[in-house]
Amino acid sequence: MKPNAERNRSRIPQERPDFPLLPTPKPGADGSLPHESSESLFRVVQAHYLQQDRRLGVYAVTGVGEFVPSSLENVRRGLATLRDEGILRSEHTFLDAGSGDGRVVILVSLIFGLKTFGVEYDDALWRRSLDHVAVFRPFYRTGNALPTLLCGDFCDEETYTRHGTAFRNFDVVFNYANDHHRLAAKIARDGAEHVLFLCYGPIPIPESFPGLVAIRSLTLGNGAAQRGSFLHVYRKGG
Ligand SMILES: C[S@@+](CC[C@H](N)C(=O)[O-])C[C@H]1O[C@@H](n2cnc3c(N)ncnc32)[C@H](O)[C@@H]1O
Repeated sequence: MKPNAERNRSRIPQERPDFPLLPTPKPGADGSLPHESSESLFRVVQAHYLQQDRRLGVYAVTGVGEFVPSSLENVRRGLATLRDEGILRSEHTFLDAGSGDGRVVILVSLIFGLKTFGVEYDDALWRRSLDHVAVFRPFYRTGNALPTLLCGDFCDEETYTRHGTAFRNFDVVFNYANDHHRLAAKIARDGAEHVLFLCYGPIPIPESFPGLVAIRSLTLGNGAAQRGSFLHVYRKGG
């Protein structure tokens, strides 16, 4: 499943054995899910990851970059705006390039209902993301696909072909400020004609990427404690 075992040996601390495992949410006796509205479902996801952030921290150096998780509140706000404007659509296939512990793909699949993929280079983070998807599995309804999580380099086409897909199959590529110049070059070269690049991070002004055109910028969050805070949207072309 995972290539380059030596090269991407994780520097992420393993789970501490003295911490109890997170409880798995269970459907009620009548088969109904305990949290029906997307707002309450979002609160469950947010609380789950807040608990994990308190246990494991919100910063780690990985073999290829830095793991700093997104603010789920910010990402949700940004994606909701793009959906309301018709830029993000439910039929889109979404890739989180550098998916960390899986929180963005869980948010996007569970709350927004998109088909999602995540690619993470770090082995321990990738395994952690699989565990989180397993925790939320009971919340997925029929027709709402679980995220597909791949371990590898998001710029390496083989990461996708090994799993029977290709980079050109993604309609939306999200990245949180890690290796985004190399990713932008791959999007311009190998992405689908209509592909959107969502570049999330602390930079208020959209950067220039050859072959991509900036079409929308959103300011997210309020206050210094909010991670990320800006979302710039690019379309292939130009
Ligand atoms: C800032 S974290 C964001 C994690 C997650 N997307 C989120 O928003 O919560 C960036 C992640 O990208 C991963 N990464 C950086 N370059 C990568 C590459 N070329 N291929 C795969 N993963 C990469 C890092 O290991 C790190 O976990």
